[in-house]
Amino acid sequence: MKRTSVAPANIAFIKYWGKRDEALRIPTNNSFSMNLSGAYTTTTVDFSDEFKVDEVSIIDGEFSEAETWKVIAHLDRVRDAAKISDRARVETKNSFPKGTGIASSASGFAALTVAAASAAGLKLSEKELSILARLGSGSACRSIPDGFVEWVAGSTNENSFAYSVYPHEYWDLRDIVAVVSEGAKSVTSTGGMQDVRTSPLWEQRLSEIPARIEQMKRAFKEKNFTMLGELIEADCLSMHAVMQSQAPPLQYWTDATKRLMDTVRDMRASGIPAYFTIDAGPNVHVICEAASEEKVIQSMSAISDVRSIIVNKPAPGAHLISEHLF
Ligand code: DP6
Repeated sequence: MKRTSVAPANIAFIKYWGKRDEALRIPTNNSFSMNLSGAYTTTTVDFSDEFKVDEVSIIDGEFSEAETWKVIAHLDRVRDAAKISDRARVETKNSFPKGTGIASSASGFAALTVAAASAAGLKLSEKELSILARLGSGSACRSIPDGFVEWVAGSTNENSFAYSVYPHEYWDLRDIVAVVSEGAKSVTSTGGMQDVRTSPLWEQRLSEIPARIEQMKRAFKEKNFTMLGELIEADCLSMHAVMQSQAPPLQYWTDATKRLMDTVRDMRASGIPAYFTIDAGPNVHVICEAASEEKVIQSMSAISDVRSIIVNKPAPGAHLISEHLF
C-alpha cells in the first residue's frame, strides 16, 4: 500500500539534550516544543512484494549511507510491528535545507513513521506513533501531536512519548528563523549529546528543568509572552552552556549567531518583544507574537549574515495526505 504524510519540524522551547537510554532514545529530561508551519517534510512510502530491496531517496538532495541505514532500520521497526516482510520504496522532500540546525530529523522521522505505519496496515494511536517516531530520532516524537507539545521523558519504551499541551490555534506565536548557514553541521545532535555527562553544568541544568516546564505551562495558561520568552532564552542558554562545557566542547554558535542574538536583545531594548532560541546549529530562531512579525522580519533582514528567513506559525502534527510524491 502507498501512503503519504506531512510532518512539521519543531522548535524546542525547553531542550532535549542527553539520553538515559541510547538505543531506545529515552531522554534525561522532559522537553517542550512548537510545531513549525514553514519547515516540514513530505514522505511517500510504498510496501510491495515486487521490490527486491528498500529504495530510499530524497528530492533535491542526497541521503548519506548512514542516513539511508537509519531509514531502513526504521522501516524494519514498522515491518516487525506489522509482521510483514515487503521491501519499500520511500521518497521524501523537505521544505527547507537539511542539516542547518532546523530539525530535519524530527520532521523526517515523524513523516516516515506516519506514512510507513499506515502503508504497512498498522492502526496506531497518536501515543504509539509518537513512541515509534522517537525510536528514529528523539525530537521526532514531538512532531506527531498538534501544536504545542510536551515530551514526557519517561523511563521505558512505553512511557516516553509526546502529547499536545495546547492545539496550534491556541496562541498565535511566530518562530522566525534567520538562516545564516545552509551547510550541514559538523557534529550531529546524536553524537554531541553522547558526551553530555562530561559537562559540570549538566546536573545543574537537569535539576532546573522541572520548574522551568511548570513555569512555561503557566506562561501558556496566562498567555504571558514576556514570561514565556524569558524561559525560552534561559533554557537555550542553559543547553548551550552545557554543550560548550562538555569534553570535547561543542560550539554551534558562529559570529553571525552572536550578532543575531545581540540584534534580538536590541529589538527588546527598542520595544519589540522578541526572544531567541538556538538548536544544534548556527541559525537563530526568533520567537514573537503575530503582532510583532513585520518588525522582527525587518530588523533581521537588515543583518548581512542572514541568507534567508523562514516564517513559522504554530502547526498541526504529522498527518496523512492524499497526494503522493510518486
Ligand atoms: C538540540 O532529536 O536530533 O535540537 O534523538 O539523537 O536523533 P536524536 O537527537 P535529536 O536532538 C535534538 C536536539 C536539539 C534540542 C531539541 O530539539 O530538543
